[in-house]
Amino acid sequence: MGIRTRFLIMMGVLSLLALVALGWSSYEFSRRAALKEAGNKGEIIFNYLQSQRHFFKQNQTPLISQLIEKDRFYPNLMSGFAATSTTFNYFNQRMPGFKIKYAAGNPLKETNRADAFEVEIINQFKADQNLTETSGTITKNGINFFYQAIPLKIDHQNCLVCHSDPALAPKDQVAIYGSENGYNWKMDEIVASLMVYIPISEAIAQAKQTAMILLAIGAGCLIFTLIVISIFLERGVVQPIMRLNSRTEEISLGKGLDKPVLIKSNDEIGSLSRAIDRLRISVARMLTRR
Ligand code: HEC
Repeated sequence: MGIRTRFLIMMGVLSLLALVALGWSSYEFSRRAALKEAGNKGEIIFNYLQSQRHFFKQNQTPLISQLIEKDRFYPNLMSGFAATSTTFNYFNQRMPGFKIKYAAGNPLKETNRADAFEVEIINQFKADQNLTETSGTITKNGINFFYQAIPLKIDHQNCLVCHSDPALAPKDQVAIYGSENGYNWKMDEIVASLMVYIPISEAIAQAKQTAMILLAIGAGCLIFTLIVISIFLERGVVQPIMRLNSRTEEISLGKGLDKPVLIKSNDEIGSLSRAIDRLRISVARMLTRR
């Protein structure tokens, strides 16, 4: 295998490795940035929901309980969870894709029922009472999400009015939600998890695309560079060496001793040609002396 081919293969393989490393890091950096960005968005949504629920409990519930008879129940007026979910539905109409869920193993409202993944999260919170938040990625119906979750605990006796014995709950509530599910919750029990899902499929696809574009540009530059190097090697190294090679062979056979061997160049090949030329002169002298 010639020097040029060996050199080109080595250059090609090394550059290809560098290129793949570059593409992969680009993908990884973009993916991490996308997750961080999703985390920031989740944080905003979380805090907004919690603030709305706080307002609901702190400022609205005391007034509403004065205004409404004991057994009447209007979800959007009397449940912070219903109010924030409804608000979020409006938010979703303006900015689709995000999802929130008050996922409970035993919910009053059927759409709040935790799926297998959410049950696992709730169990994690139950197993480790010090765990106040968890997050990660999950694929649901083919869409990638970044999720954040916090535990929801029965932290007030008031909660038990509506969530313990159906006989204690407002009659309207039982009429709307039935008396089967969402009851028998206990004080200090972690009953649910607030889940916030932020879609990241698009960001991940973008990260992949950026990496692919980078790879394509890199591959283009690589091929161009290899062609230029190949031409340079052919003209600047291989051809002069082949010429020197055939001239040296001639000299060794005592032929063409009157033709100088000179390659005008300041590099190693130029210096080799001068050495061979001195050899030619010496051989010529030796032959004439005999
Ligand atoms: C006045 C009755 C009432 C009180 C008091 C109440 N809730 Fe609820 N809660 C409801 C109703 C009704 C829903 C279903 C809301 C909906 O339609 O989205 C609900 C929903 C929930 C959910 C979502 C899961 C599900 O069951 O659908 C959680 C979690 C929850 N409540 C926890 C609490 C906690 C914790 C407290 C005390 C801080 C509390 N609730 C106080 C009536 C009440």
